[in-house]
Amino acid sequence: MEQELFIKEIVDRYEGDNGMLIPMLQDLQAEKGYLPPDDLRKLSRELEIPLVRIYGVVTFYSSFRMAPKGQHDVTLCMGTVCFLKGSGRISDALCEEFSIQPGGTTEDRLFTLQAVNCVGACALAPVMIIDGKYYDGVTPDSAIEVIRGLKTGDNV
Ligand code: FES
Repeated sequence: MEQELFIKEIVDRYEGDNGMLIPMLQDLQAEKGYLPPDDLRKLSRELEIPLVRIYGVVTFYSSFRMAPKGQHDVTLCMGTVCFLKGSGRISDALCEEFSIQPGGTTEDRLFTLQAVNCVGACALAPVMIIDGKYYDGVTPDSAIEVIRGLKTGDNV
């Protein structure tokens, strides 16, 4: 019931205007850290718009997340230079090692993996950034090693 009220409060903030769906979703994400499916269903009911339309918006904008964020942000540059120097292989290795998809969060919520375009440090390619710290010349093995270190607080 409290959740219903919370969604209603967000909708009321924008006077129930369907055209304000994006700010409503931003408010929800700011509050919860992500967009829980149950809340999206409630929003759909409250606004009387199809759930599929809400999912269309959520999946179109990369700033919206459907899963809780991990404790650490791991960003892998997939820009042209980094890609040519192997960032695709690094991404594959991380996804396999930690059973995760790009944009996803590990089951233990240790980290969220994001792929981005050029981060402006091509001379250091391939580049991985963890919580704002840059790692250059990364390989699949070194990336895995650094991320394993997150658990113990080493490396980062
Ligand atoms: S392509 Fe990765 S830093 Fe430019």
